[in-house]
Amino acid sequence: VSAGSTRFDAEEYVTAWVERGDYPKIHVPITAWVRENVGPEEGHVLDLCSSTGLLGRKLAQAGYRVRAVEQPGPGLELGRQNRVYEHIPLMPLKIGPDTLDDLAEWLSGRLTATEPVRTVVARRAFPELWDAMGGTQKDFACLVEVLRASGVRNILLEGRQVSKRSTHPLASAADEARALGPSFKAVAWRGPLYHLVASG
Ligand SMILES: C[S@@+](CC[C@H](N)C(=O)[O-])C[C@H]1O[C@@H](n2cnc3c(N)ncnc32)[C@H](O)[C@@H]1O
Repeated sequence: VSAGSTRFDAEEYVTAWVERGDYPKIHVPITAWVRENVGPEEGHVLDLCSSTGLLGRKLAQAGYRVRAVEQPGPGLELGRQNRVYEHIPLMPLKIGPDTLDDLAEWLSGRLTATEPVRTVVARRAFPELWDAMGGTQKDFACLVEVLRASGVRNILLEGRQVSKRSTHPLASAADEARALGPSFKAVAWRGPLYHLVASG
């Protein structure tokens, strides 16, 4: 399935996977970036804001132990109904100031007696979470601190396509990387892809 103007949660992506095992081309760069920067032995990987679940499923197929968080809604339902999330522990959660404690419990593994999440994969996730947290650096820092305190060591992100018209504070991957500091520090980047590690 070509990237074109197809939305990330399009039914045709899920249908292509169900019928032919094809994964969307939109996830090729971030998948390659994950494989270049962290190995499957480095622990659980979170597909943050996983939508229909196809990115996480692709990483699971590549040998990673994947978990996913996505808010309840049509994208999540489409993935569930088509068994994209089979064998991928999923937390249906709308992340925001009121749900940070639940997120922390689940990430650390305390809630389900599993290993903590060590790597977060976030493709075009942080700009929406910035808004959901309240829209300021101080609000966003509460989410970032939850990630760090829960045991997350690596963040692999892909930012939005930069557009001259964008007025969002996290319009680019570089903006996202800055907003994740000082808890996380950029150690590698290429175009819209960043690798950050927990400081200290
Ligand atoms: C631009 S999409 C990216 C989806 C996926 N990461 C990908 O690249 O294919 C952003 C996703 O974030 C989810 N999302 C937005 N706000 C959220 C929140 N507060 N909590 C959980 N998920 C959220 C949306 O439902 C959507 O699936």
